Amino acid sequence: MKPLCFLITAGPTREFFDPIRYISNRSSGKMGYAIAAACRKISPHVTLVTGPVTLPEPAGVKCVPVTTAAEMAREVFRRYAKTDVVIMAAAVCDYRPRRVASKKLKKTRQRLVLELEPTTDILLELGKRKRRQILIGFAAETDELERHALDKLRRKRLDLIVANDASAFDADTNCVTLFFADGRVERLPEMSKWKVARQLLQRILDSAIR
Ligand code: CTP
Repeated sequence: MKPLCFLITAGPTREFFDPIRYISNRSSGKMGYAIAAACRKISPHVTLVTGPVTLPEPAGVKCVPVTTAAEMAREVFRRYAKTDVVIMAAAVCDYRPRRVASKKLKKTRQRLVLELEPTTDILLELGKRKRRQILIGFAAETDELERHALDKLRRKRLDLIVANDASAFDADTNCVTLFFADGRVERLPEMSKWKVARQLLQRILDSAIR
């Protein structure tokens, strides 16, 4: 059988409002990097589109560094047609500043109001354009984990969503619940992100989500 072609995203994005300032989030990229390394063990075709993180590149994985949500969207979309499995572990910023100043904003005694506009929802777009691909998303929630995760699973036409509490941001371990498109729910105990990655890959290989 031909090895599967994996496309994985990891880390945060940064959305600038002047040349040196941005809004972002606490994502460390650890989960996505662990998934890329796990996938590389079974396939030579692993691409990792990664936001800015401080982790070493997983050996043998093609890394594509990006900064903004728009750049991540571009790099993911151009590879989508040739991909079998997409795993969106990145914490993509949902909003970006509407205006980006070309020079550093100077301090005044006035309030500064930042107006934000939505970024492209990459996974939602992938769901709309889905053909044979297996689509896997992540949901980090602070409340009503199951309701929000199931909503994202359906809205984005995913095969599987990996839901965890937002406290997993930047941690070395993760306690996840897997919600499958066919209604199955699997709660995994707390384990290292590397072990979560292996469990996830096992589910994909079992074709359990087909
Ligand atoms: N995602 C994406 N593009 C975005 C935002 C999120 O592809 N602009 C992906 C994430 O990588 C993740 C999934 O969508 O796999 C869920 O992300 P999340 O931010 O939790 O969901 P949202 O749909 O943005 O909902 P909300 O922020 O309201 O919880």
